[in-house]
Formats: sequence, structure tokens, C-alpha cells
Amino acid sequence: MDKIKIIGGNQLNGKIYISGAKNAALPLVCASLLTEEELILKNVPQLSDITFLNKLLEFMGNKITKNVYEENGYEAQSFTYKANEIKELVAPYDFVRKMRASYYVLGPLLARFRHVEFSLPGGCAIGARPIDIHLSSLEQMGANIEIKNGYVVADAPNGLKGAHIIFSKASVGATCNILMAATLANGITKIENAAKEPEITDLIDLLNKMGAKIQGRGTSILTIEGVQSLKGAQHHVLADRIEAGSYAIAAAITKGRIELINARAEHLQQPLRVLEKMGVGVEVTENSIIVDGTNKTIIGEDVYTDYYPGFPTDLQAQFMALMTVAEGASLVTESIWENRFMHVPELCRMGANINIHGHASAIVRGVKKLSGAPVMATDLRASFALILAGLIADGETIVNRVYHLDRGYEKLEEKLKAVGANVERIKAED
Ligand code: EPZ
Repeated sequence: MDKIKIIGGNQLNGKIYISGAKNAALPLVCASLLTEEELILKNVPQLSDITFLNKLLEFMGNKITKNVYEENGYEAQSFTYKANEIKELVAPYDFVRKMRASYYVLGPLLARFRHVEFSLPGGCAIGARPIDIHLSSLEQMGANIEIKNGYVVADAPNGLKGAHIIFSKASVGATCNILMAATLANGITKIENAAKEPEITDLIDLLNKMGAKIQGRGTSILTIEGVQSLKGAQHHVLADRIEAGSYAIAAAITKGRIELINARAEHLQQPLRVLEKMGVGVEVTENSIIVDGTNKTIIGEDVYTDYYPGFPTDLQAQFMALMTVAEGASLVTESIWENRFMHVPELCRMGANINIHGHASAIVRGVKKLSGAPVMATDLRASFALILAGLIADGETIVNRVYHLDRGYEKLEEKLKAVGANVERIKAED
């Protein structure tokens, strides 16, 4: 398995181009299953999660073509999807276990083909990750759902019908799935306590371009009037707020200055506010965010993760890396996932002073220095936190299990090298 080697100590300065958002692209890709016409997605990030999902869709009969093009001087990729001959309505275990978000095929396939079989994904490193809200909502829309041999078998012989659904939690995945299902349902669906993440707004924008009738964009109450069929469309995936936030911390922690090209400050209000409170300079321009840690003293600050527009759980680990070298203490409370502190023992091995209280809170007391070590994490964002720690640690840090990073950070080493990091990938020998 590949590793990343970092020699800490370089200040990072320059520009980083922010890629299309992974968590927006995944449901957008699955929206292609809702129509027999062509769907063109531009600015799709080059990530293993996208590759896995495309493989599943191809297995089902979706015809996919890739095109590489230039966008603002950077290489980008687009995909054209044509799902006019879907022959497979089963998402097998081998695909789902590699790619949890393949549950996004549920809503579209059930709505359009009235049947879907989907291997239950099981838990993962950050928590149990149930999909009960997805399934109970589809049942409320008239689906019959059975669990057989580890698979969800869902049928809606007369098609899905509109329903008034109140989510028990503002789940991102369930909101996307039920939105897609409702576009082709018979009648009106109303979702209350829907998630409001920008990735959902991006999905709504695409679905409306395809002819869906969705109201309530950006709010927690969504109303969807079902239509007979959807048409093809072209869409540009929005910029990745979590990638932008991660590199913002790279600037802050190395006391450098990075301009995050294409980053959208309106999607990062809480993280940018926390950075400013920690003493980091933040400037917002028309198409970028400039994060300036030059000559700044980082001060500890408390963070509580919450549903959007609250502080994103997907930036918790990276902020914790910054807190390890802040002046004073910081309290981190994780309210979304029950097990999202896997980075803590690894950061402590690098010299951080962090105490976990219960499973939801951690106190970080800033230390003067971290020292390099071989480390690994079992989650994408935790792995990036270790990269951040490596960037300022004395000596060499080796981050193992790089496949987690390849799931969510496009051209990681290239981007970091371009701003001055001493980082390289050590390829696995086999
Ligand atoms: C999405 O996961 C993201 N993944 C996650 O990003 C992110 O951490 C999460 O939203 C929260 O922002 C993708 O978009 C692919 P949820 P998702 O459904 O949709 C509970 C990353 O690093 N829940 O909003 O799976 C659940 O257990 C990843 O990029 C139920 O109880 O998250 C959790 O506690 C990691 N039943 C909470 O809701 C359900 O049916 C929020 O989960 C569904 C969720």
C-alpha cells in the first residue's frame, strides 16, 4: 500500500486550486439513473470514490464516457452518463463495501424501475452509519422493503407515491436519496428536517435542470412535485468546501499564506470564523479565499460539530491538528459521529496533548512542537489531520493507508508540493 512521506518545517505559500466536491459529485452521478437522456457532469474530482461509483453504474448498464478538459488553466474531468439501457438493478456487496455512498442508487432506481436490491453497507470507522431513515422514508412513499441475506430488497410495483416525511435527523444521505426518489413519485412529497448542506443544494439545482419540481432549496423543508420523466442536463460540480477548509489549515499551521482558488466562503462561514478567532488572517475575494498565518500566533478555540450551517464534522480532525500547536486549550465536541477521534492517539504519538472525555469530547492542550512518526488513520479526514501534523513536525512523518486520502483529496501531493511542502508518495512495491 502506498505511503506519504513528509519532512516537516516548510512554510506553505502560493495558490491551490480547489477541486469539485466529492460529496456533491456522488449523488449527482447517481442522478444519471433517473433519466434515459444524457447527463453531463463537469468538474468531477479525480478520486477513487468516484471511480468505484462509476464502476457500479457501468455494471448496471449506465454508459459512461470521460473527457479531460482545461478549466481556468487547471486540468479537470467531465463524465457523460447515459442510462437508457439499465439491465441490472442489484448493487452487490463487493461494490457497496468499497463505496458506502453507493446507497445513492436506491432512490433513483426504485423511483424509475420500481425495484432495487442493495447490499447493506454495514458500519465503518467513524460510526455505525445506519440507513434506517432512507428505508423508512421509502416505505412511507409506498415501497415494500425486506432485508434478505444482507440485502435490502425494495419494490414499488405501482410506483412510489408522494408522502409527508419528517426526518428524525437531518441526514445528508437520506435527504439526497429521498429527493431523487420523489422527483419521479406520483404526487407531492414534503420532507421536513431535511439537511441543508451545499451539496444538497447542488443536487437540487441539477434535478431542477433535469425537469424536477423542487421547492425549498437551502431550507429544511423541501417540497417535491413528482413528474412523469426527467430529461438530460449539464452541470458543473460545486467546489469542495472540505478540501478548501483542509488546505486553509495547511496555511495556518505552517504559518504560510495560501490562496484557495474557487473556494466559496459562504459555504465555510463557521470554519473561517473559527480560524479568525484562532488568530489567522482570512480574506475573501471574488473567486478565492486567502488564508494568512504569517507571523501569527495560533490561539486555542472551542469547536462543536453540527449540521450545516454549523461547524462541519468533516473538518473536525484537521482543526484538531491545528489546535495541537495553539496557545492554550481547545475543547472539541463531535455531535454527528459516535467514533470520530481516531486521529487522537496518532496525534499523541507525534507529541500532542489531547484527552478524550466520553466519546464526544476532547480537550487539546497546545504544545510547542510535534515530532515526526510513522502514523495511520482509518478515515479520510483523520488521515489529512496527520498530514497537517506532519507538515510542522520535526523530522520525517510517514502516513500509512494512503488509500483513504485518495478517496477524497484530488492530487494531494501535487497540490501540497506546489505550495512548498516537502512531501512524496512512496509507492507500494507489489
Ligand atoms: C455525509 O454522510 C458525508 N458523506 C459525510 O462525509 C459527512 O460526515 C456526513 O454527511 C455529515 O455531514 C457523503 O456525503 C458521501 P448523515 P452521510 O446521513 O450522508 C445518522 C467524509 O469524510 N443517520 O448526514 O452518511 C448517522 O449515523 C464523509 O467525506 C441515522 O441515524 O451522513 C449520523 O450520526 C464522512 N440514520 C447522522 O445521522 C440514517 O438513516 C448524520 O449522518 C442516516 C443517518
